Amino acid sequence: MSAASFLMSCSRSADGTLWLGGVRLSDIVADGRIGTPAYVYDIDAIAKEARDLEASFEREPHLVAYAIKANSASLIVRALAEEGCGADVVSGGELELALRSGIAADKIVYSGVAKQDDEIDRAILAGREGICAINVESVEEIARVGARAKECGRTARIAIRLNPGVDAETIDTHAHITTGHDEAKFGVARARIADALDLVAQTPTVRLVGMTSHVGSQITNVNAYLSSARALFEVAREVKARFALSYVDTGGGFGIDYGDGCSVSPADFIRATRALKAEHGLSNLALYCEPGRGLVGAHGVLVARVTQRKVGDREHRWIILNAGMNDLIRPALYQARHRIVPLTAPPGPLGAFRVVGPVCESSDDFGVHDLPEDHFDAVAILDAGAYGFSMASTYNGRALPAEVFVRGGRIEAIAPRHEIDAWVHARMATVPG
Ligand code: LLP
Repeated sequence: MSAASFLMSCSRSADGTLWLGGVRLSDIVADGRIGTPAYVYDIDAIAKEARDLEASFEREPHLVAYAIKANSASLIVRALAEEGCGADVVSGGELELALRSGIAADKIVYSGVAKQDDEIDRAILAGREGICAINVESVEEIARVGARAKECGRTARIAIRLNPGVDAETIDTHAHITTGHDEAKFGVARARIADALDLVAQTPTVRLVGMTSHVGSQITNVNAYLSSARALFEVAREVKARFALSYVDTGGGFGIDYGDGCSVSPADFIRATRALKAEHGLSNLALYCEPGRGLVGAHGVLVARVTQRKVGDREHRWIILNAGMNDLIRPALYQARHRIVPLTAPPGPLGAFRVVGPVCESSDDFGVHDLPEDHFDAVAILDAGAYGFSMASTYNGRALPAEVFVRGGRIEAIAPRHEIDAWVHARMATVPG
């Protein structure tokens, strides 16, 4: 099999067929147990991504807390746990999934601006000492976590999430996914850190163990990441003088190459962050990070069938897939571009086609792509391993897509396409009021 270099995870063999993790994708489309659209994940590649990142810490104490929101399939969470990862969760649901997928409570951090009381209780009561840390996102939340801990008869470990006030241009990603600027709802502003520390000091049921920040996603420039890490380290140095911190957590955000370039790997971000942390005299603190996309994004594809070709005039030609914005919302929501390639490449010329889905919205549009003029019946939408299935919905009365897990060159497990009957049932179900 000769690997085509423009694809990170897929490769095309000499006979023109597309493979992922040693499995021919057209075999998945033909497999009657699965159905399309289907997400296909290469578990070995995901595990290797985690191993490379783990190795970049060398002997420095650390935690890679996988951001479960990127892809919450338990099989993936388990594979990452086996490589030593913990989890970053943002809801009681994700917390439960992490625990039941074999992640130890003391390797879980919990972010989010509006955790419910019952979710906080679950975090405090998990394991022998609660989870590793509840990342508090406001001064006000410290009081609430303290009160819940008192109620639960335990001490809650917390980390303060700093909003470093890094402007959106510095982070240079889509505005919807920057979180570290002054107007973002996330984290505690630098100006309020002193109040936060005073409140921690007055609240015996919380123990401050870390300082954390996360400023955005799909960051492709190490310096942008470091500008936020620098702000975090400066504050951590002051906090450390007063509290027994055990770690600093520089968040997630490691970008991947969607085809328009990203020359840095998650390990590159970590090596640079380690150097900066040492410069700030924080060598005795562990380094945590919270990557989602960087571990899984490049190692999943969304496979879909071509339902219909349509010609408007010479300039307007559409290829209409059976996958739409309900299956993969990133193009509609963030104007994201995912490469689209046929599963078997017919010889002959390419032409420009607008690739769209079946959903009744103009934003159900995957962009214009150069694709074979000749007939082909299925495509792979690339780099769909992160924020694909996890953001999918049943909009327009469509079933959630199937998921296929490939390991060791074979299909290890299938999560079949949801039955549309289940959706009809759910929409019809009510109880007498
Ligand atoms: N930590 C926190 C607190 C986060 O909010 C996030 C992502 C992460 C870690 C992981 O970030 P990552 O390493 O995956 O960049 N749906 C959007 C991305 C939203 C990211 C939300 N927070 C997309 O499809 O691009």
